[in-house]
Amino acid sequence: MRLSLRFIIPLALVLGAIAYSVVPLVDELTLKWFVRDLDIRSKLIANAVQEPLVELLTDKARDKVRLQRVQAFFTRILQDERLFALGFCDQRGTLVYRTPTLPDAVTCGEPDAAPEDAGRVLKQSIGALHITASPVEVEGQSLGELLIVHDMSFIERRSADTKKYIVYLFAAIGAVIAFITVVIAELSFRGWVAGIKALIRGQLHALSPQPEARELRPIARDLEALVRDLEAERRLRDEAQITWTPEALRTILRQDLKGEEILIVANREPYIHVRRKDRVEVQRPASGLVAALEPVMRACSGTWIAHGSGSADRDTVDSHDRVMVPPEKPAYRIRRVWLTKEEEKGYYYGFANEGLWPLCHIAHTRPVFHASDWEHYRAVNRRFAQAVEQESRTENPIVLVQDYHFALAPRLIRDRLPRATILTFWHIPWPNPEAFGICPWREQLLEGMLGSSILGFHTQFHCNNFFDTVDRYLEARVDRETFTISYGGDLTEVHRYPISIEWPPQALARQKPVDECRADVLRELGLGPEVRLGVGVDRLDYTKGILERFAALERLFEIEPQWVGRFAFVQIAAPSRSSIEEYQSLDAKVRAAATRINTRFGRPGYEPIALKIEHHDADHVYAYYRAADVCCVSSLHDGMNLVAKEYVAAREDERGALILSQFTGAARELAEALIVNPYNIEECAAALQLALTMPPDEQRERMRSMRGLVQEFNVYRWAGRMLLDAARVRNRRHVAGTRGRGKVLGLHRP
Ligand code: G6P
Repeated sequence: MRLSLRFIIPLALVLGAIAYSVVPLVDELTLKWFVRDLDIRSKLIANAVQEPLVELLTDKARDKVRLQRVQAFFTRILQDERLFALGFCDQRGTLVYRTPTLPDAVTCGEPDAAPEDAGRVLKQSIGALHITASPVEVEGQSLGELLIVHDMSFIERRSADTKKYIVYLFAAIGAVIAFITVVIAELSFRGWVAGIKALIRGQLHALSPQPEARELRPIARDLEALVRDLEAERRLRDEAQITWTPEALRTILRQDLKGEEILIVANREPYIHVRRKDRVEVQRPASGLVAALEPVMRACSGTWIAHGSGSADRDTVDSHDRVMVPPEKPAYRIRRVWLTKEEEKGYYYGFANEGLWPLCHIAHTRPVFHASDWEHYRAVNRRFAQAVEQESRTENPIVLVQDYHFALAPRLIRDRLPRATILTFWHIPWPNPEAFGICPWREQLLEGMLGSSILGFHTQFHCNNFFDTVDRYLEARVDRETFTISYGGDLTEVHRYPISIEWPPQALARQKPVDECRADVLRELGLGPEVRLGVGVDRLDYTKGILERFAALERLFEIEPQWVGRFAFVQIAAPSRSSIEEYQSLDAKVRAAATRINTRFGRPGYEPIALKIEHHDADHVYAYYRAADVCCVSSLHDGMNLVAKEYVAAREDERGALILSQFTGAARELAEALIVNPYNIEECAAALQLALTMPPDEQRERMRSMRGLVQEFNVYRWAGRMLLDAARVRNRRHVAGTRGRGKVLGLHRP
């Protein structure tokens, strides 16, 4: 009823307003039409009476007789009920004949003022009169004018009738519309409103099972697209307005996630305790994942669940296997999960690093899959899911699952904590379906990942590959419009979140000025102050293109021999996964290549390549970045590659040049780097030459632009975007929960 009134009152007002503006218009139009009719009528009468009137006027009879005859003639004509009066004016403009009804106000001569075929309307107290003056002629000679006066009062009567009908008509239209509307509204309005409200809250998929909402689907689709666009636009705008700092992240946690605790699941721990003789040392691992997530955890607190891999890890935890870090300023805790040597071999070295790692990287190293490794992988994923449940203080924690070590964990966590918000981030590339399809357990891996609420990759290209893969191997509904995958009744959003580094990097604060860094590094390498310096910082991994980089250096020395003795390259290579044969073989090859090039181009006191296969802490690495004229990142395939971003961040002097492989995620963001194909040795050698001869102004311009980008899109923004998305998804779940819907087909999972 309220709805009906809400609709009918405005409808009545609108129709009333229309009627009010239409009536005068209709009045004016009808008057015009009637006047034109009377003009035509007067002309017809004038033509019809022309002949008899001329006869009477030219009759030789006496004036009195002629007067009587004309009067009688006029009286006959006047029997027409519309005609009101007649008159005749002679050539001198004297009114010589008239009917008694002709008003005194009508005089000769006046009609001449009007156009010949238009009547004039004389308003009198008795009503409106229409007057025309038509010439009366005989053989081309004018005898005078016939005045024909029509009564127009019937027009006023008709106009009043018309007004009445218009009002009735509008009232009738209003009544019909109101009636139809009320009927429709009563039948379906409630359903529609519920549907549209649900839709706007992002529960479009909840509409599908409601038969009464079927007619809404086209509107729903359009609305959904609109809401999505608006949301994306708002998110971008909001995001751009925030200065992304640790405090900004904390605010999101506090405000958008109600202070919810964050749990991270990542194989590698950010602080490793190792025993060196009788001392315990803390090591920071060489891992892009750790470099990115550690500052986020410092900002957000919470728990990082990881494999306790350090030789002194067990000695440093409490009775719950937890330890607070960073050691110098504790801000969050690590919960260590212990693995046996066998488990580590099967899960970490085996399935994760001999299977999934080469499977996802196009580096032409064959993946190896063993059933026993797979069993360990499953068991360890289960162990971590159990640890998540143990560490979670609530039923619905926010869990950030990291990387290819834990493809099964999202679903296992979901089984234990159905209301958890699970964000899984895949730090390495995602291959195309053909490449992924060779994995014997491809379906299980995909099913495991689709236990996530949100799934993140570095680039849209990797998201698209994932969509294609799911499309190919699972009975799932993949919606590339909404970036969602619906599988087994649940929905997973798939988004691009390009990872980054903290800004400004912590290590930068402890650095000496650039000149001093340079002098220190040259001294350490035993090189003269004039020698130009290049740097490469990687884990010793076959995906990093270290051999290709060395080949390019060798080519540079061949084609630009002036650099021999004047340019040296420091390769920092952190030993990695050294139990794996492929890595051992790479180690040998890299050492051999460096030795060969050094033998070929070296001389006493100068080695073109300084190969440092050992662990370096962040302070040391940043000193190299600051000392180097050029940094070379030549990965054959890389999810993002944070070394490229670190080099840019280290150069607040806006000097130095970055050579960057086109096969890294970073190349999609750092367009001002010298982008190369690492397989093209000539091109890489040319890029080295270009970098070494790049004018300072150009270095500054390129650096400034790249620094701006890394600063703006730092790791706090990366984490912030994911947490905001998590908050959005949680909010939807909350809305669905309060409406008592629970888990329905297609409903957004938490
Ligand atoms: C890559 C992976 C990380 C891993 C890192 C170091 O960046 O994406 O998950 O931590 O390599 O490798 P490691 O095997 O030593 O942890």
